[in-house]
This record gives sequence, structure tokens and C-alpha cells, in this order.
Amino acid sequence: MSQAALETTGPAFEAGRPVTAGEPLLALRGVGIGVRRRRRASEIVRGVDLEVFPGQKLGIVGESGSGKSLTVLSVLGLLPDPPVRLLRGQITFAGQDLGTLDDRGLARIRGAEIAMVYQDPMTSLNPLLRVRTQIVETLRAHGAPRDAARARCREVLNQVGLQEPERVERAFPHELSGGMLQRVMIAMALAVSPRLLIADEPTTALDVTIQQQILELVEDIQARTGMAVVWVTHDLGVVARIVDQVVVMYAGRVVEKGPTRTLFAHPSHPYTLALLGSLPHQGTLHRQPLTQIGGTPPDPARLERGCPFRSRCPFAFDRCAQEEPPLIERGPGVAAACWKSPDEWKSPDEWQK
Ligand SMILES: Nc1ncnc2c1ncn2[C@@H]1O[C@H](COP(=O)(O)OP(=O)(O)O)[C@@H](O)[C@H]1O
Ligand code: SF4
Ligand SMILES: [Mg+2]
Repeated sequence: MSQAALETTGPAFEAGRPVTAGEPLLALRGVGIGVRRRRRASEIVRGVDLEVFPGQKLGIVGESGSGKSLTVLSVLGLLPDPPVRLLRGQITFAGQDLGTLDDRGLARIRGAEIAMVYQDPMTSLNPLLRVRTQIVETLRAHGAPRDAARARCREVLNQVGLQEPERVERAFPHELSGGMLQRVMIAMALAVSPRLLIADEPTTALDVTIQQQILELVEDIQARTGMAVVWVTHDLGVVARIVDQVVVMYAGRVVEKGPTRTLFAHPSHPYTLALLGSLPHQGTLHRQPLTQIGGTPPDPARLERGCPFRSRCPFAFDRCAQEEPPLIERGPGVAAACWKSPDEWKSPDEWQK
């Protein structure tokens, strides 16, 4: 960036800036996020690199507490500061460094370019306002005339497959079921035609059938609009069908990344192997854990030396206690943070002891 650009004050974000061929829509480079607890500060998300290309669907997967939500919140400048804040790294959207934007610039991106849906729809919905008012006001804030905003509101409520959109429009949030609220939240997110949708476990609280419907809905909208999607979940099985790239997080770090198919067929990190072990069997609806991951993940604020997965890893050897492995390339577009390559692992029977 030129010196002149650095000296410019105020929001510099150029809305709708096209992405040149081969350039990611969203890129995180070396992102580190810190937390201050009592008097102790620690880096709970470390060295996160990830990229989302236009139209791509990326899954961020890992057990609860692995840093998924903080990672995506950092993109939008929404970290709960204090006590959590971005310590290092660069986040770019459509080639522009989001770190150079002020609050207004970031708010503009949140509204118009990147939309987010959460596990709890009430995080984004106001309980005191009718659904229509909320969607229309969002659109008005982005400059849409009232009539156009109302028409767009009806259109997106139709798009998310709500029966009786007229009734939903007039409803207050408490008058709707969990699945309907989730659809309303997605409609609200889509109303401004974002280039990127970030979904942070939006189906976790829903029953399996509704979960499936929401997944299909996002898949369908994605296919029609070509927006990029980042889907955050603790359940690898949920994203398997809808994402083309997966990033696996453990204790605040990326431990494996790669194309979904490769990751499923040939996992390169023992943790990914363990996550796959609890996938439902093909052809059955019941979950049949082949292997349970014993133990619990470490607190990312209190990591010891070495590989953070070693206390749960049946393949650990001396070096794992000494040095933390970096991400090592294991194939085209595949990298994993493990000292051992998969052909050095013992038989997966080891997992069943
Ligand atoms: N507001 C907060 N204050 C202190 N620690 C936090 C806060 N939010 C998250 N953390 C800690 O950061 C780590 C990662 O959290 P999070 O990103 O929410 O994980 P995930 O979304 O993968 O479940 C956890 O260990 C959690 O305890
Ligand atoms: S580095 Fe060692 S402890 Fe860590 S996942 Fe690989 S084998 Fe297991
Ligand atoms: Mg989370």
C-alpha cells in the first residue's frame, strides 16, 4: 500500500471491488488472537492462515474451544475486546487490508460484503421488532428506497423457503420456531447480496431434519448466487457434503487443511483421523463412533511445549514432547501439523484400545 493511502483517514473500503483472477476474496495471514485473564495474557489463536476464493465453500472444523468463533469474529472486527483482541496478522478482503479500516469502514463491510449467521438467531435479531421492520431497516441503512426494501424483504423470505412469508414478515421473533428464526436470519444476511456468508454453527441447536433443510437451503442459495461460504462447525460430518475445502483447528491452531475429498480419503493429521472416526456410517442414520477421541483438548491459553495433541495421540514419540510441528505440506493443497506422515502411523486399530 502506498504512503498516500496509509495517510488517508476514514473508511477507505471500496465496496464491490472486483477480485482479480487467482486472488482470494478473504485471506488471513498469521492471525494471532490474545486473551487477558486476570493478569495473564496469552495467545489463544496462533498463526492462522486461510484463504477463501470467490464462490468457494470452506469448512472450519474443530472441537468446542478450538478457536473457530474467535477466528471468524476477528475478520469482522467483532472480537469481545476486552478481554480478547487481535494481536498480530493481516486480514484482507477483496485485496484490501481490513486492519487499515476504522469502525465505520468495517461496519460497511459487515453489512454489505460479508454477512454472518450465528448459532443463536437472537444474536442478530431484535426481539422487539417485527421481522419485516428488521430486514427493511437493514436495507434502508444501505441506501435502498423504502418500496424497494419492502419488495426485497418479501423476495428473500420467499427465497429461504418460509411458508406464509406474509405472516412471518409481521411476526415478532418469539412467535417463530427455531428453524424459522434460522431461516429469517439467513434471509436477513442474504438481503444485501453479500459476497461472503460466514455461518458459525447455525444448525447446532436444531434437530437433525431441520439442520439438513438449512444446509440444503444454503447450498441452494450458494449455487444460485455464487457467493463464497465459510461454514464453522464442530461436526465434520455436517460440512462434508457442502464444502470443497476444510480447515481443521485444534487448540487455537490450524492442524490440517486441504480439499474435502482428500481430507476424507487420506487424512494427514491424527486429529482429523479421529474426527472422521465418529462420522455416521454410510447408508445408516445412526452415529456409530468407530473410535472415540479420548481425553479433552487442552486450554489454548495454557499450552505446554510440544505438540498440543500429544496427550491424546497414539502415534506420539519423543520429538512430539519437545517441539511443536509446523504445517508440513503433505500433497497438492494439503498441509498438516504433525511430525509423522500418514504412512508412519500405526494401524488405526490403535485407536480402539
Ligand atoms: N470472551 C472471552 N473471554 C475469554 N476467553 C474467551 C472468550 N471467548 C473465547 N474465549 C476462549 O478462547 C478459546 C476459543 O474460543 P472459541 O473461538 O469460542 O472456540 P470455538 O468457537 O472453536 O468453540 C476458548 O478456550 C475460550 O475459552
Ligand atoms: S506431532 Fe506427534 S503428537 Fe502431534 S499429532 Fe503428530 S504424532 Fe501425534
Ligand atoms: Mg464457536
